[in-house]
Amino acid sequence: MEIKVSPSLLSCDFLKLGDEINRAQNSGSDMIHFDVMDGMFVNNISFGIPLLAASKKCAYIPLDVHLMINEPIRYIDAFVDNGADIVTFHAEACSNVTAVIKRIKSRGVMAGIALKPNTPVDSIVEYVKLVDMVLVMTVEPGFGGQSFMYETMDKVRTLRKYSDDNGLSLDIQVDGGINADTVSAAVEAGANVIVSGTYLFKSDNMAGEIRKIKALK
Ligand code: DX5
Ligand code: ZN
Repeated sequence: MEIKVSPSLLSCDFLKLGDEINRAQNSGSDMIHFDVMDGMFVNNISFGIPLLAASKKCAYIPLDVHLMINEPIRYIDAFVDNGADIVTFHAEACSNVTAVIKRIKSRGVMAGIALKPNTPVDSIVEYVKLVDMVLVMTVEPGFGGQSFMYETMDKVRTLRKYSDDNGLSLDIQVDGGINADTVSAAVEAGANVIVSGTYLFKSDNMAGEIRKIKALK
């Protein structure tokens, strides 16, 4: 499968948001990862709808929105109205997962379901056929700059096998601690959508790093 790269804006220079989005999209990124945290589902607060709307003004590639918020159904319409092309929510944060997926799909955008490191694939397997992407978190959500958890690769392998066995060509995204050393483990396990914040935005050669990631297979 083609490898797609989604730099996480959480690690960009916020004083230069437009320039940073352009740096990412001019470096061969396939989409831009946008981390929304509510201070409840995770112990951090990042940014939200007004910043997404501003980002949309200069983004010419899809905005990949990762909602780390409780009961995301409350805000699906607002994020889609303000520029989300992919909406990924956490299974652990919803009282009704199917309703969230239906709301996202009813807006004509892509739906993703995310799993924290300790959440098993079994708990979401019934939803996999209803979504476009599964995000396997490779760190505890909430902060950039943490270390990649290799033990989460078993879940990536399980999901890739499930996708292959069912003819789904599912997008499997990994997020957290991805760098030149860890990315190959994720790709070998079957991930094809690579999120990376610190590694890509702190690099002075983002295009080169992205080329290297996309050359893995
Ligand atoms: C963490 C976020 C990630 C974060 C990744 O909760 O979901 O997208 O930005 O940052 P790095 O690549 O620095 O681990
Ligand atoms: Zn994220």
